[in-house]
Amino acid sequence: MAKLVNKIGLNVKGGTYYEAAEHGEVILLAIPWSSVQDTIGILGDLNGKIIIDCTNAVAPKLGGLLIGLTTSAAEKIAEWAKGANVVKGFNAFDPEFLDEIKSRDLKPSNFICGDDPKAKLLVRQLGQVIGYDVVDCGPLKNARFLESLAMLWIELAYTQGMGSGIAFKLLHHRKMPE
Ligand SMILES: NC(=O)c1ccc[n+]([C@@H]2O[C@H](COP(=O)([O-])OP(=O)(O)OC[C@H]3O[C@@H](n4cnc5c(N)ncnc54)[C@H](OP(=O)(O)O)[C@@H]3O)[C@@H](O)[C@H]2O)c1
Repeated sequence: MAKLVNKIGLNVKGGTYYEAAEHGEVILLAIPWSSVQDTIGILGDLNGKIIIDCTNAVAPKLGGLLIGLTTSAAEKIAEWAKGANVVKGFNAFDPEFLDEIKSRDLKPSNFICGDDPKAKLLVRQLGQVIGYDVVDCGPLKNARFLESLAMLWIELAYTQGMGSGIAFKLLHHRKMPE
């Protein structure tokens, strides 16, 4: 953690999950699916917090999704994190390659969804500042589709051998407003 904090630089501080959740207005959840429910349980009061859910409920050995047809990781998180506004996103791309891709004038699509318009707007703005083309995919239940898309990304990157420097891009036949 200390190494990561030093790498990021100014205005960044490490702490426990509880401390991070207490401090932040926005919580980025980027931990293995198997630990999500227990971790949410120790975060304290999440009322009014925005949770960006980047997780994917991937089976061991990248063997597909554990849930997805009748619910999704994001919907389960919304159930567990009482009072929080969950926005799904940032779950189908390895951010390590963002700078490299941006340097080629490309913007990976970051598909997001959620039920709270204000939370979604803030996450959209965060994504745009970082350099994504953010695509609003509607309500949180559409996380089922976003998580399947992430599974395709995992399949291509790791099983089909393309490597993790790949990204999805939504193309439009006309220019869309930012
Ligand atoms: N890797 C990607 O390219 C990528 C892209 C999009 C979405 N995702 C999703 O993001 C999530 C994290 O993926 P990752 O590849 O970053 O995983 P990871 O490297 O295995 O773990 C990420 C973080 O989770 C913490 N962690 C590990 N085990 C934990 C536990 N039992 N309880 C609480 N925290 C734990 C680790 O903390 P410590 O370092 O302190 O152990 C680490 O900081 C997954 O759900 C994945 O599907 C990954």
